[in-house]
Amino acid sequence: MVLSGVKPFSVIRWWTLFLLLLVPLLLLIRDIIENNLGADPARTVVTELGFWAMTWLWLTLAVTPLRKQFNWSWLMRFRRMFGLYAFFYAALHLLAFTAFLIEWRLDLLVRELTKRPYIIVGTIALLLLLPLAVTSTRAMQRKLGKRWLQLHRLIYPASLLVLLHFIWQIRSDFGQHLFFALLLAIMLGYRLYLKKRG
Ligand code: HEM
Repeated sequence: MVLSGVKPFSVIRWWTLFLLLLVPLLLLIRDIIENNLGADPARTVVTELGFWAMTWLWLTLAVTPLRKQFNWSWLMRFRRMFGLYAFFYAALHLLAFTAFLIEWRLDLLVRELTKRPYIIVGTIALLLLLPLAVTSTRAMQRKLGKRWLQLHRLIYPASLLVLLHFIWQIRSDFGQHLFFALLLAIMLGYRLYLKKRG
């Protein structure tokens, strides 16, 4: 059965993924309400949101290799949703940082920017992701034509900066950092391989 050209199964899959990607935020809100965020709640909120922003960004980057390698063309329909989720979590991450860690104070922002270069790196990454979110609609895709593809290649430097932002903060355990770095190397390496193969 087909409803307005969209198969009901696809609609269910879309909503399932949409709700799944919202789960970390809902769990975080629950933990905030229950006051269950450990010794440094403000920092936990910031790091959780940053972690999920990066995870959804990696998921967005995984679409092309998975589609090409396993013929999962259905994944393409969700790439925009994944990318927008990455941006949404990153924007909340910035909001939490501004509200809870520097409490909207310009002097603290300047101090953080000069004391912690990883904040500058994160800011550049977010600025690179902004035009991608703004031009993510089909109308913009049509309007920009070939330039849309060129513009959306900004996701590569942005993801490298996000990785740097993440790695710069290593304190002790770096297993997770290595895992995300390896994943990114595979996903970007795969694209280079396809390009070379022609
Ligand atoms: C204006 C931009 C940004 C600012 C000001 C910022 C700031 C911060 C701060 C203060 C932390 C916590 C450091 C700590 O624990 O002491 C952090 C962690 C993190 N941020 Fe950002 N960030 C920005 C952009 C981004 C973006 C665009 C992403 C990803 C798409 C991201 C991903 C992360 C990750 C993965 C962590 C570490 C989380 C963990 O340790 O599990 N950040 N960021």
